[in-house]
Amino acid sequence: MEHVELTTADLLLRPWRDEDAPAVRDALRDPEIAQWNPQGGDPIDDDVALLWVRRRADWSTGGHASMAVTSAADGKLLGSVSLHRIHDGDASIGYWTVPAARGRQVAVRAVVRLTDWAFTDLRLHRVELCHAVANPASCRVADRAGFPAEGTLRESYRYGDGRRYDEHLHARLATDR
Ligand SMILES: CC(C)(COP(=O)(O)OP(=O)(O)OC[C@H]1O[C@@H](n2cnc3c(N)ncnc32)[C@H](O)[C@@H]1OP(=O)(O)O)[C@@H](O)C(=O)NCCC(=O)NCCS
Repeated sequence: MEHVELTTADLLLRPWRDEDAPAVRDALRDPEIAQWNPQGGDPIDDDVALLWVRRRADWSTGGHASMAVTSAADGKLLGSVSLHRIHDGDASIGYWTVPAARGRQVAVRAVVRLTDWAFTDLRLHRVELCHAVANPASCRVADRAGFPAEGTLRESYRYGDGRRYDEHLHARLATDR
């Protein structure tokens, strides 16, 4: 898959770059991100962050499209949004925002922009979004981004504290209004 850049009024979604590694290191150490977007493996240091960025910058398998969410005004890193498990018209979407960017609809707008691109350009039919029931901010993002809840998955994913949590499954279809 070829790299693309996507814009909204004040966001630029772009592929990850090596220079993002220090900001990613700091973001992945945020307790909320560490809990709800666990990376597993080694503690987050500069090398882990650089590997993280490089893996997400490589779209060659066609299985994911991972974007840095940045401010169009000053280029600052605001968050991450990615389509993963892209296969046969389906994909899943995941995201986080840095603490300083929260509460400004950055996550909602990034999810909407990437999902719209997935439907129009990748011709996907269904994008799923899962979050822990114990993470109501993420549920709000899903609802506001037009992903209705479809059900609850019981103890379906092990999060950062090592516990399994129930999750809500949400999804958007290309044919949804
Ligand atoms: C969840 C997260 C991505 C939301 O990012 P954000 O940029 O603040 O999201 P938005 O501003 O687009 O919207 C957040 C919504 O959640 C609501 N919200 C925030 N904290 C909340 C809470 N504790 N309980 C309920 N709703 C909450 C906000 O009020 C807002 O809703 P509103 O627009 O109706 O007011 C961000 O908090 C984050 O990165 N958290 C840690 C990692 C994470 O949870 N990732 C998602 C894993 S599925």
